[in-house]
Amino acid sequence: MAEAVAGAIGRAGNPGRAGHALSVRSARDLFVARERLAKLFGARDSSRFVFTANATEALNQAIKGILRPGDHAVTTSVEHNSVMRPLRRMEEAGVAVTVVPAGRDGAVAAKAVSAAVTKRTRLVAVVHASNVTGTIQPVAEIARAARKAGVFTLVDASQTAGSLPISLSDMPVDLLAAPGHKGLLGPQGTGFLFVREGVPIVPLIEGGTGSRSESDLQPDFFPDALESGTSNSVGIAGLGVSLAWLLRKGVGAVRRKEMELLEELLEGMGRIAGVTVFGPRDPSLRVSVVPFLVEGMDPVEAGHRMEKRFGILVRSGLHCSPNSHRTLGTFPEGTVRVSPGPFTTRKEIALFLSALRKISSSRR
Ligand SMILES: Cc1ncc(COP(=O)(O)O)c(C=O)c1O
Repeated sequence: MAEAVAGAIGRAGNPGRAGHALSVRSARDLFVARERLAKLFGARDSSRFVFTANATEALNQAIKGILRPGDHAVTTSVEHNSVMRPLRRMEEAGVAVTVVPAGRDGAVAAKAVSAAVTKRTRLVAVVHASNVTGTIQPVAEIARAARKAGVFTLVDASQTAGSLPISLSDMPVDLLAAPGHKGLLGPQGTGFLFVREGVPIVPLIEGGTGSRSESDLQPDFFPDALESGTSNSVGIAGLGVSLAWLLRKGVGAVRRKEMELLEELLEGMGRIAGVTVFGPRDPSLRVSVVPFLVEGMDPVEAGHRMEKRFGILVRSGLHCSPNSHRTLGTFPEGTVRVSPGPFTTRKEIALFLSALRKISSSRR
């Protein structure tokens, strides 16, 4: 991946902006990555995948591009700020927002989401898996019910894209957002928004697309409708390579590996005195993020000890999702979060467990 990024920096061709070889080469990198996204997510038409700088941009585009004054939106109490903040902003513009509470395990009931839908509801925005508890939400069921009610569904797949098999052919989701740098294993500064054909979305920004340059008006065809300005072709060249790896390996295989590691991790953590683990105990109900607390120790202090004494990098605090922590009862301190990935080994899980045992026993 790093080679692809370095190569793209060296070439510096602006995709779609000229007919010369470097521009064409860069446009090809974008096309290849887009095709791979479509393949990975079981979609027919790759042009419906719009590249963004991250998941936040994709979520803002979806929320602000769909909702209008007088509309109603339904979301959940375990959303990331990149969903909650744009929704709160839309409230100022006359959009009503209902937040459906999740249980203490972070799970949201599909029926509770359906029950919150009214005649004015235009959008249901739900995270596929919480970035705090890892809990997987019943997004297919939520999307099916929303479709029946004539409501669009936006899924924040930031914690599931590349970690959990997702088929857009089987799930009637209208909009799906994800970053390139998490489970898709690509560089930071990349992300995408999938917009299903026929979904009426207004661009967040307008400008140069390299297409229909004779017109003052933004093109209405995809991906150009939502992709203005020079792309991060360098990052996307790298994303294309990580997507190729995922397609070869199979997201199912990544998921199986992460579930094995999770089983070992959850089992081990459950046996350490003074450690509280949040989220479902069953690895099949969650993705690979595990929040925990060490009794009597601030999460920032526990995270600091993990790094300084054991060289293990974890994230402490509210994880940009204060509502999730209110749901868990861990607000305002938050938790420590450990996240094994596809390249984590069983030996590393054992090292983590041993470090956690030492940190926890040092407190009591
Ligand atoms: C569930 C969820 N949504 C959205 C985001 C925002 O992603 P990005 O930083 O790519 O904008 C994150 C990042 O942590 C996340 O975990």
